[in-house]
Amino acid sequence: LIGKYQACDMKRLANRLSLWASQVFFTASLTPLFLWPGLAQSRLVRQSIAYLFGSVLAKRYYRVIEFYGQSYGGALAGGLDKAAAMSSVTINRIIDCGTGTGYAARQAALRFPQAMVVGVDMVSEMLEQARQNAKDKGIDILHVYADTLRLPFLDGSVDLVIAQNTTPFLTEFARVCRPGGVVVFVDSAARWSAPLARYNASQTGCFDAIAAEQAGLGFYLAARRQ
Ligand SMILES: C[S@@+](CC[C@H](N)C(=O)[O-])C[C@H]1O[C@@H](n2cnc3c(N)ncnc32)[C@H](O)[C@@H]1O
Repeated sequence: LIGKYQACDMKRLANRLSLWASQVFFTASLTPLFLWPGLAQSRLVRQSIAYLFGSVLAKRYYRVIEFYGQSYGGALAGGLDKAAAMSSVTINRIIDCGTGTGYAARQAALRFPQAMVVGVDMVSEMLEQARQNAKDKGIDILHVYADTLRLPFLDGSVDLVIAQNTTPFLTEFARVCRPGGVVVFVDSAARWSAPLARYNASQTGCFDAIAAEQAGLGFYLAARRQ
């Protein structure tokens, strides 16, 4: 019996250690993208991301979400609540940038049931999964193939822009966001990136209110378009 308890403790410890290691890893990965926005915009980085998600991770990404369990959506829930509180317009049009399997788009559709939600991704394998997942769950979401560096939407045409665990193109997200609307950028593991995200958002000069909070294992940035 004691052996069984010890095995259980070891498993819990190993799980905590791997979650902590992932927080360190994702904070370290996000830091250069915030420090040098031009890096994320470079063709090499965007093509590497497309390769990683298209050829390596697409069929396995649901396992990453399973690994984090409840924690995967913790920071996102905080960001969506903050957006509802900060927005000075009714949230009727939402886009989810880098939608992947559609996780964040579905949470947003449940949080703002009156809104039209569009998921955007540049990897067709991921978009196909997002489409199927939304269909299976009976949630109405439109899906668009595009690079989030140049979103195929007019200036100021969206009330809420969300982007979770993806590239932080804050200036482009701000371009399509309507004045009074909110941009929410979330990372479900990069907990220590919150101050840098706040700094980056303030540097764009596009927002009149900015909140950046650690939440769950990660953080959210919520910034209101001026
Ligand atoms: C780690 S997954 C996260 C998916 C989802 N947002 C979530 O939270 O579960 C990142 C997604 O962002 C997409 N992505 C990264 N850079 C992108 C870009 N420049 N344009 C469009 N999609 C991009 C990837 O293809 C991938 O599907």
